[in-house]
Amino acid sequence: MFIDFYHRPAGKQGFHVIERGRDRRVSGEVVQKVETIYSDGYYFVACVLGLRWIMAAYEFRAGLEGVPATQSSISYVDGQRGILEYRGIAIQELAHQSTFLETAYLLIWGHLPNQADLAEFQEEIQSHRRLKYRIRDMMKCFPESGHPMDALQACAAALGLFYSKRALDDPAYVRAAVVRLLAKVPTMVAAFQLMRKGNDPVQPRDDLGYAANFLYMLNEKEPDPLAAHIFDVCLTLHAEHTINASTFSAMVTASTLTDPYGVIASAVGTLAGPLHGGAAEEVVGMLEEVGSVKNVQTYVDRCLMSKQRIMGFGHRVYKVKDPRAMILQGLAEKLFEQFGHDQYYDIAVALEAAVADRLAGKGIYPNVDFYSGLVYRKLGIPTDLFTPVFAISRTAGWLAHWKEQLGENRIFRPTQIYTGLHGTKYLPIDQR
Ligand code: ACO
Repeated sequence: MFIDFYHRPAGKQGFHVIERGRDRRVSGEVVQKVETIYSDGYYFVACVLGLRWIMAAYEFRAGLEGVPATQSSISYVDGQRGILEYRGIAIQELAHQSTFLETAYLLIWGHLPNQADLAEFQEEIQSHRRLKYRIRDMMKCFPESGHPMDALQACAAALGLFYSKRALDDPAYVRAAVVRLLAKVPTMVAAFQLMRKGNDPVQPRDDLGYAANFLYMLNEKEPDPLAAHIFDVCLTLHAEHTINASTFSAMVTASTLTDPYGVIASAVGTLAGPLHGGAAEEVVGMLEEVGSVKNVQTYVDRCLMSKQRIMGFGHRVYKVKDPRAMILQGLAEKLFEQFGHDQYYDIAVALEAAVADRLAGKGIYPNVDFYSGLVYRKLGIPTDLFTPVFAISRTAGWLAHWKEQLGENRIFRPTQIYTGLHGTKYLPIDQR
């Protein structure tokens, strides 16, 4: 851990000493003196070891950016080359040849199922789609003005009340939890949508596949096969993306060995924030605000002049066009061809070109959320359900990370850099 170099950030005068004089051992030798120094994002430990001074430098990275927090074999992203793989298989291959449930199986169990395994998995999911009437009754008490992500988080956590037996080292328990969550999360999302309109939820239909059944429960009519297929591909594209905020949240919760319903509830809560799952919703709002292709250039100029972010562009990892955005754009075109043109698609294409002119040099290209909102809108999904739909799909990835975490668990307990006071005297309330 200790390295003998000394780095002082440019332009900085001196260091703020935040910890002093604790004995430590380095490679078995007694350290005589230790000073811990924090300056401009760097954390230094200086110590005298024998006759030598040793300096160690740790960079403090806000948001843990780029800090490895786990070893994982679930998915891989190369942001420079625009590569995304699930268990080594390119996302393009899965989008063209697999289905969401087969992909979920691949992510969670690490290999593609054979025909019998897949049939059994699909059947199990089909037979666990219904919600207990007490969950439906609980949902009836939710305010209709509440956000569907909050409803979903509450429902996911409530599953833990009904299935409270915890046997994390029993493969049958793990399988049952995976099946239950994948099966019931879409039913919960659709049920809340109908209930907030004052309607009874629609029961799932066993003769429909995973994607078609969700659209049926949501819109109360059987979807066109092409629409169901496109929605299934959308679920596949959003199923997993290494350890972003919500997946990390799932892993941290999983590492305490709590039940899987708590794990998914905490991930749903994390995904709900506008910096994470909410961008697709914002893209649609932005396209509506632009209103017409002729306004695109002015809109882009105005945003860039006022240093405002253009939604659906840029990514912490991808510095080229997100491979999922390319697939989604193709799906959007197919949808509009079959079910009628959408003027917002023309605005989106013009916006992509205008942004490329100005920001391609910085590696800013459309991300997954840029075209997904347009696809969801055409499928009849209301704007505030875009993030819950993301959660339906990402449940597969969260469960894969839950299972992986259980395999080699160590509770997450990072350290902090204390920047507060020491030895402060308590001042009685009558003297304040
Ligand atoms: N519009 C305009 N400029 C942008 C955008 C954007 N969408 N994204 C980045 N930039 C610019 C920044 O202003 C910055 O410019 P500067 O160097 O002149 O200061 C440069 O590109 C680098 O930006 P960073 O903020 O360092 O990029 P970071 O990797 O931290 O941000 C993020 C990634 C948060 C996704 C950002 O691109 C953004 O806010 N995009 C819009 C919101 C969005 O679409 N979010 C969805 C992300 S995908 C997902 O979560 C599933």
